[in-house]
Amino acid sequence: MTTIVPGSASQSLAAALARELDATLAVPTFDRFPDGETLAAVPQFDDDSAIVVAATVSNDAHIELLQLADAVCEAGATTVTVVIPYMGYARQDRAFNDGQPVSARAVAAAIDTAADRVVLVNPHEPSIASFFSTPVETVDAAAHLAEPLPDALTDPLFLSPDAGAIELAETVRDSYGQGETDYFEKDRDYDTGAVDISPSDATVEGRDVVLVDDIIATGSTMSEAIAVLRDRGAAGVYVTCVHPMLANNALAKLSAAGISAVYGTDTIERSVSEISAAPAIAAVLRS
Ligand code: R5P
Repeated sequence: MTTIVPGSASQSLAAALARELDATLAVPTFDRFPDGETLAAVPQFDDDSAIVVAATVSNDAHIELLQLADAVCEAGATTVTVVIPYMGYARQDRAFNDGQPVSARAVAAAIDTAADRVVLVNPHEPSIASFFSTPVETVDAAAHLAEPLPDALTDPLFLSPDAGAIELAETVRDSYGQGETDYFEKDRDYDTGAVDISPSDATVEGRDVVLVDDIIATGSTMSEAIAVLRDRGAAGVYVTCVHPMLANNALAKLSAAGISAVYGTDTIERSVSEISAAPAIAAVLRS
């Protein structure tokens, strides 16, 4: 048997995964050492195999993941799988300026020390896997992103806000069963964070548009795209993503720009996480 150990930011997803795999769900504790450091702990368990499920949505969550993976070894697990539903720092996959680190590589090296197997869900770039020396499998949750969409979208267009996410848009269209796909061109100023969107030629007037991306972080990309689509007369603008980070005021930005609805998965547990990545993760873990 396997015990599933949730990080504090992945409790619902870990529970769903335990149901999918008919595994035991551990109840860790999340405390603070007297000097303020994080201190996660796992109750004793009898299984040889442990699966730590922890989205690394914050610096504390990174440390928690390392502590939980170490704690399950202390508790006697001989095989440790680390499922990282959302891997923080993955977007820092290169040094953008002189003197900067490749942060994704640095955090991967730390996780390597604790894991026998790593599972990532829609990492920002496939190359992230190469930063680990532990075997890595990736899960594609995109096929589930169409689940909450209304059944009767009008002449739907599935659009990614940049060329890098066009395959996601195609997967969502295929799952939905009908519609065209296209993408915008995006330029981001990495110093200011400002995003500039260049519209495609696709006709959007009177159509329902589904914007698809891997992550909504600050919401700058999506709010720019929504504004362009509203200007051009789109009927409804639905937004769906794998990782709804929705940092700071992102949800308000999207609402103010004029969305009809926003959906995400539970790789990051937010109010919009209507879609569970658990079935897709379970399929990879079973393989
Ligand atoms: C970038 O390549 C990603 O696919 C997302 O478009 C981006 O990270 C979203 O970031 P934000 O919400 O901050 O614009």
